[in-house]
Amino acid sequence: MSMTPEIDYGTPASKATKEVSLTVDGVKISVPEGTSIMRAAMEMGTQIPKLCATDMLDSFGSCRLCLVEIEGRNGTPASCTTPVGEGMVVHTQTDRLKRLRKGVMELYISEHPLDCLTCSANGDCELQDMSGAVGLREVRYGYDGGRHPNPGIDASNPYFTYEPSKCIVCSRCVRACEEVQGTFALTIAGRGFDSVVSPSQEQSFLDSECVSCGACVQACPTATLNEKSVIEIGTPDKAVITTCAYCGVGCAFRAEMRGDELVRMVPHKDGKANRGHSCVKGRFAFGYATHKDRILKPMIRSKITDPWREVSWDEAISYAASEFKRIQAKYGNASVGGITSSRCTNEETFLVQKLVRAAFGNNNVDTCARVCHSPTGYGLKTAYGTSAGTQDFDSVEYSDVMMVIGANPTDGHPVFASRMKKRLREGAKLIILDPRRIDMVRTPHIEADYHLPLKPGTNVAVVTALAHVIVTEGLVNEKFVRERCDWDEFQDWAAFVSDPRHSPEEVEKVSGVPADLIRGAARLYATGGNGAIYYGLGVTEHSQGSTTVMAIANLAMATGNIGREGVGVNPLRGQNNVQGSCDMGSFPHEVSGYRHVSDDATRAMFEALWGRPLDSEPGLRIPNMIDAAVDGSFKGLYIQGEDILQSDPNTQHMAAGLAAMECVVVQDLFLVETANYAHVFLPGSTFLEKNGTFTNAERRIQMVRKVMAPKNGYEDWEITQLLSNALGFPMHYNHPSEIMDEVAQLTPTFAGVSFKKLDEVGSVQWPCNAAAPEGTPIMHINGFVRGKGKFVITEYVATDEKTGPRFPLLLTTGRILSQYNVGAQTRRTANVIWHEQDVLEIHPHDAENRGVRDGDWVKLTSRAGETSLKALITERVAPGVVYTTFHHPDTQVNVVTTEFSDWATNCPEYKVTAVEVMPSNGPTEWQEEYEELTRQSRRIAETLVAAE
Ligand code: SF4
Ligand code: SF4
Ligand code: SF4
Ligand code: FES
Repeated sequence: MSMTPEIDYGTPASKATKEVSLTVDGVKISVPEGTSIMRAAMEMGTQIPKLCATDMLDSFGSCRLCLVEIEGRNGTPASCTTPVGEGMVVHTQTDRLKRLRKGVMELYISEHPLDCLTCSANGDCELQDMSGAVGLREVRYGYDGGRHPNPGIDASNPYFTYEPSKCIVCSRCVRACEEVQGTFALTIAGRGFDSVVSPSQEQSFLDSECVSCGACVQACPTATLNEKSVIEIGTPDKAVITTCAYCGVGCAFRAEMRGDELVRMVPHKDGKANRGHSCVKGRFAFGYATHKDRILKPMIRSKITDPWREVSWDEAISYAASEFKRIQAKYGNASVGGITSSRCTNEETFLVQKLVRAAFGNNNVDTCARVCHSPTGYGLKTAYGTSAGTQDFDSVEYSDVMMVIGANPTDGHPVFASRMKKRLREGAKLIILDPRRIDMVRTPHIEADYHLPLKPGTNVAVVTALAHVIVTEGLVNEKFVRERCDWDEFQDWAAFVSDPRHSPEEVEKVSGVPADLIRGAARLYATGGNGAIYYGLGVTEHSQGSTTVMAIANLAMATGNIGREGVGVNPLRGQNNVQGSCDMGSFPHEVSGYRHVSDDATRAMFEALWGRPLDSEPGLRIPNMIDAAVDGSFKGLYIQGEDILQSDPNTQHMAAGLAAMECVVVQDLFLVETANYAHVFLPGSTFLEKNGTFTNAERRIQMVRKVMAPKNGYEDWEITQLLSNALGFPMHYNHPSEIMDEVAQLTPTFAGVSFKKLDEVGSVQWPCNAAAPEGTPIMHINGFVRGKGKFVITEYVATDEKTGPRFPLLLTTGRILSQYNVGAQTRRTANVIWHEQDVLEIHPHDAENRGVRDGDWVKLTSRAGETSLKALITERVAPGVVYTTFHHPDTQVNVVTTEFSDWATNCPEYKVTAVEVMPSNGPTEWQEEYEELTRQSRRIAETLVAAE
């Protein structure tokens, strides 16, 4: 918890395996070939003064502070740019070097304002440190920094300031933006003494291309770029390593505190998912944790039309338990259920499903993965035997071709996108299948080799056409297929995809993708070296979501792109713990580790430990629960951390189902939309207030550590435990580590996981057990988990959601960088500055045909419902396609999406809705009613806060 700074080795580690021996200040050492002298010295504990070097960036060699002497060589080379050599003898602390370094520092200090005592970075400034390190005692050229350019402070970014008078022009920020983030938003403008860092075309940070990732702020050795929170609160005095609670990348952070106040989140360099990088959400958008909208006291009401009544925890828990018992006594055991959250920890999720199976006595448990990646679970388990991605993120460094299908990494998975972009700048090729021209199609220094702008709903046709080319042009890796896959199934599949109806020329007619693009992309993927597929919700949220996942799995097997670094099939998971919530047994048909509830041996293991008989029949999925509620047979629901009214499709149907229940318990941070239909509200805790683990998209289990006491009084697992005890099924955990121990005991793929292990090694990727004690970065290396890889026939079946005269356009949905999911957290941070409202992207032709101008209000109508929002006219979408995000409840785009869903998993078909767009005068009637409801909720919250 103490504030031990992260060690900066000055230059990145070399990946070479060959060792080189040298002598530094009389000490013999060995380091990998290619290591800089600076890093070699640092690794043996000798710090060479530096300003322009940092181990997050390639060496640059501009400040001339890190000079060394090398025996047998003239001059004083910079240690950051000079690699070690065999037998080299280096001196880092001679009188000559000391003199030279002092001279350099004198020049820097004479150009710097002398306001150290009142500077926000006082005590956390490398310029100060280096002045001390070189023993600077006087400056012959004066101290006032008067000649330094000072165009004034830029405080336009909500999270950090830029104060040019303090800039030492080391270019670390510029290089961080290029090398780490890949945005290229900064440059050094001017020359010599007039040099100054400039965002884009001499714009403010807010107006520039900057995406507020914070990499430049982190790289800056002075207070020139500094977090506003540091300026406001002061420099931190302690730090805790934890994991971001936003997306499935799973960035590790140092939560840096001053007292009990969180000052800043700094990406952790040892984080194996993020390698020291972050995006605007994890880095800066944590203010929701202390937002005034947070509800901190439990509340109950008999009817959803009654006002809330604030009660004690005891009363709320007993009321909820007695209601669930009453309902089960009256309507039967199966009349209640629970929903786990992909935002909560593994341990919390495990407890909710345990409560449902053991305390409720049924399998009516489901999770929000139902509406995102359930087809991934089904498809990859069928093809390979494991419901998870095959690679670690580091694998991308070895990819030669990346195929991105239905994912928008720069918005949805920004830190991984930066790693992809880095590899692409190194020369890897890029294929994108997406109806929209996402940023990665063309972004600084990157241009996709192929963009296949397919019509929404035609994924299976296009991916099968790629397979057609691979098979009919003889590009199959037959050796791999014969050794690793079921050969008979392969032959059936090969015959199927070879059929002329799957040719690119035929598929062009349904997908709109020119045949030559399909052919070119297929050839590139099959022959371009290591081919890695990354996909997102644009694959899964379709009526054929599971079929597309299996079609992707077929492609990887047919080309031998599985089972080693640089290849694989990689779902980019949406929420922070969507992988974990699935792993923990949140589905109605599977307990932890994806074992079916009908398996007697598995059930017996749980029954023996839990002391309760478990139901062998799968329970209800979320849509089934809602249907049953509308029909009158499902009456009670415990929802932990999930706003199903906003996130699930067909809002009216969802609202009708929730309204028909007799006891809805919502456990959340805020009065989310679903809480409008709740009878009991149990205040939840944020990730900053709890211990536990999250599992990211690469199956990496990482620690979440408590940095402050829960403002609501309890961590979420404790609340579930209280409810379970009140229901008569005792739970007695003292700490989440005990829950993980139970998971490990009951789940073969987690058998080697414990908090102790995670504390020791930082993180592990499951499977982690006796066979793989250090975890499994890459799966299916020597064989598929299921034995032989399974080729599945993927017949394209057009969705029933068809365009026609009434609804001639296709709506597809997605997310943007600054907001997260339904926005409950990010809308309560300064991130709203970048996305105040959801807008409808529409092609200029479609807009013109409808008399719609940029910024006009438009009504978006489908057969399910209607909403109004503002139009954004853009060629990012093709004619006939419109696009919006779903972050704002006052738009609630899911009133428009339909009941159609994936045939195998019920994952909703969010990505294809036939719609019409017409000019409108403003919000619809329900949106105005909603506004009123929100105002009321806010008033209630404010009254309760005031009463407190
Ligand atoms: S915050 Fe990120 S994107 Fe913005 S200038 Fe800095 S490094 Fe570039
Ligand atoms: S803003 Fe900071 S990192 Fe950028 S050049 Fe100036 S001192 Fe260096
Ligand atoms: S939101 Fe995702 S990419 Fe951004 S910091 Fe968090 S885990 Fe990393
Ligand atoms: S640290 Fe080596 S030249 Fe700046």
